[in-house]
Amino acid sequence: MKGIVLAGGAGSRLYPITRVYSKQLTLIYDKPLIYYPLSILMLGGIKDVLIISNKETIPHYKQLFEDGAFLGMNIEYAIQDAPNGIAESFILGENFIGNDGVTLVLGDNIFYGYLDFFYSALKNSVGATIFGYQVNDPQRYGIVEFNKEGNAISIEEKPIKPKSNFAVPGLYVYDNSVIDISKNLKPSARGELEITDVNKEYLKMGKLRVEKIGRGVAWLDTGTPEALLQASNFFGVIEERQGLKVACIEEIAYKMGFISTEKFNELLNSLPNCAYKDYLVRILSEDF
Ligand code: DAU
Repeated sequence: MKGIVLAGGAGSRLYPITRVYSKQLTLIYDKPLIYYPLSILMLGGIKDVLIISNKETIPHYKQLFEDGAFLGMNIEYAIQDAPNGIAESFILGENFIGNDGVTLVLGDNIFYGYLDFFYSALKNSVGATIFGYQVNDPQRYGIVEFNKEGNAISIEEKPIKPKSNFAVPGLYVYDNSVIDISKNLKPSARGELEITDVNKEYLKMGKLRVEKIGRGVAWLDTGTPEALLQASNFFGVIEERQGLKVACIEEIAYKMGFISTEKFNELLNSLPNCAYKDYLVRILSEDF
């Protein structure tokens, strides 16, 4: 299974924060936003990741993650010339995906809690698995409608009159046919290759699973300054309370066995003296 983080976009809603650097590099409590979606892929055991963004931002991501080797990963990069739609990820990522399945996570989507819904989805090798999460403001998302048996019967992108409160979060698990499906899409009225159209195609073929995510999981939005502050406060509270970091990619790489103790030590030595390093030193010394 390959992974893609889509981390571009116009960023206009967060201007002037996004005048110099992209939204996915803004701070959520103590680390860049992109660490959170990347860590979800890592927790799913995905080591091959493609980061897609605009040409101005790719150098910043390269500075952050290099080729991924320090995390025991292979991280590659692709440029999206313009925000032509989320589904363009699979066209830009065609060579990277090869013959494998692919999980796409949007670079501004944060998930926290019991991630079993995701781990089970990764076990399905045929078709697509997406998720449904109850929200207060369904007009802002892709919305899925279920029948009485709990099966998905329709999906609409930002409907004016939503048929349910179940939004589709930006985490999608696909088999390899997603490449051909994306290539055959027509741009929507807003000129984008829509991820919702990809999902509708799987639904039409009878190959779409939509798993509901329970309320015990937090799916956080980061689209507005208020949402960024809320997310920072949320993770600040949890990290302070537990003394454990969320989405600490170096810790995850170590605990998932992507890197050996020796490599982890090397990584620690390369960090400047800071609270983040102190935390990682503690992780190494404590037997959790
Ligand atoms: O967050 C979940 C929602 O994400 C889904 O419920 C919707 O079905 C899906 O269309 C998407 O809606 P958004 O309106 O949030 O998408 P947005 O255009 O804001 O793009 C999401 C992220 O992906 C954002 O950080 C920018 C990035 N992006 C987006 C597009 C369209 C790109 O990097 N390239 C693109 O071409």
